[in-house]
Amino acid sequence: MNYFQGKKIWITGASSGIGEGFVRHLSTIDCQLILSSRRKEELERVKSENQGAKASFDIEVLDLADSGQIEIVSNKVIEKYNGVDIVIHCGGISQRDRVVDTSMDVQRRLVEVNYFGTIDVTKRTLPKMVENKFGHQVVVTSVTGIISSPLRSGYAASKHALHGYFDALRAEHHADNIAVTLLCPGYIKTNISLNALKGNGQKQNKMDNAQANGMTVDELIPICLKAVSKRKEEIYIGGFKEVAGVYLKRFFPKIFSRAVRKLAVT
Ligand SMILES: NC(=O)c1ccc[n+]([C@@H]2O[C@H](COP(=O)([O-])OP(=O)(O)OC[C@H]3O[C@@H](n4cnc5c(N)ncnc54)[C@H](OP(=O)(O)O)[C@@H]3O)[C@@H](O)[C@H]2O)c1
Repeated sequence: MNYFQGKKIWITGASSGIGEGFVRHLSTIDCQLILSSRRKEELERVKSENQGAKASFDIEVLDLADSGQIEIVSNKVIEKYNGVDIVIHCGGISQRDRVVDTSMDVQRRLVEVNYFGTIDVTKRTLPKMVENKFGHQVVVTSVTGIISSPLRSGYAASKHALHGYFDALRAEHHADNIAVTLLCPGYIKTNISLNALKGNGQKQNKMDNAQANGMTVDELIPICLKAVSKRKEEIYIGGFKEVAGVYLKRFFPKIFSRAVRKLAVT
């Protein structure tokens, strides 16, 4: 049987890009999808574009920077569905500025949304998973969760933090049949660079070349779904350079350090 069949699956960041891609691909399976992000009208668009396929859809507006709202929405979802089976954490924002030009407000915002928002949803969905003796936390981190590069200090920090947190959770709850899959994409063609924050908090509003030439969401998602259904712990997906960077850093850190300096810093 398909791993996702009959499952209750909560997807954050479902209004755009990778999260929307998960909705599109999972909508062909008989499962319950709960779509979350801040923009209700975009969630409604995603729902209506995929309606008619096999999945059932529910929408819950959620701001990952608002812990009060996370508490209310999580309680509502857990009560309505007697817990969820799988959470796919896609909600997030990126950064495009140097350390020296990035305000502390922006550094905090990146960590608040990408890290604290994600682990808050996790903490609230986990107890019922433990009680049900089944659960799967799927987290879209990034190769930037393993390596870091110029203009992404706070983004990289937030993604590295996710690895630390979820590696601990995986070990703690192995015996409870809780899986953690960390999905680490390289450059994917989405709006991430348009929405990325400059150091002053403004959106970059520009499509980066790397993103424009990156892997498409429809190429990415089947690889992710296969890894999730095998309950893999961590995978790297993307172009040769980004994935090679992970191994270069691991085995030849000095060569990596010299190579990464050559990436654009302005
Ligand atoms: N694209 C890439 O190259 C790439 C590579 C590696 C990892 N990733 C990761 O993949 C994830 C999805 O990014 P994407 O590429 O699909 O970018 P995207 O198209 O910009 O989508 C970002 C999603 O996050 C949601 N979001 C942003 N801020 C939020 C907040 N405060 N509360 C709740 N939801 C929020 C957005 O929805 P609303 O605006 O409606 O809230 C949107 O659905 C991110 O975590 C990103 O770091 C992307």
